[in-house]
Amino acid sequence: MMKSMHKFFAALALLLFANSAFAQCDVTVEVGDNLTFSVGSSMEMPADCAEITLTIKHTGTLPAAAMGHNWVLTKTADFQPVAQAGLGAGVANNYLPSDDARIIAATKLIGGGESDTITFSTEGMEAGGDYTFFCSFPGHWAVMKGTFALN
Ligand code: CO
Repeated sequence: MMKSMHKFFAALALLLFANSAFAQCDVTVEVGDNLTFSVGSSMEMPADCAEITLTIKHTGTLPAAAMGHNWVLTKTADFQPVAQAGLGAGVANNYLPSDDARIIAATKLIGGGESDTITFSTEGMEAGGDYTFFCSFPGHWAVMKGTFALN
């Protein structure tokens, strides 16, 4: 009896440890030949993710110059100013201002059949804070955007 209870608690402890140590910190976002993110207009990741690995995958066929998409993360207050600043940066610069500290994370701008994976630190981000993800391609960010939260 004691032995089986010991085994039970050992298994429970292992399960709890596994849950906290291996939170789901990887996410894939699909985009296509339209102006939508597969994740919709809100994303939530565990607050105990020290790093998040995000893959953007373009399942369409149009090239980046015509239907380019990226995934950019800023504070919600910075989203529109950063998107505006990206307009003049051009496709070669992923329609983003270079070395801009307001950009928390950003993938490359990709076209059909392409993908990009980034890993970024959540250090400095607040659990429950107000963040926005968007595509910085001109005209896309008015609709290709959503809220991002660490919870
Ligand atoms: Co786009």
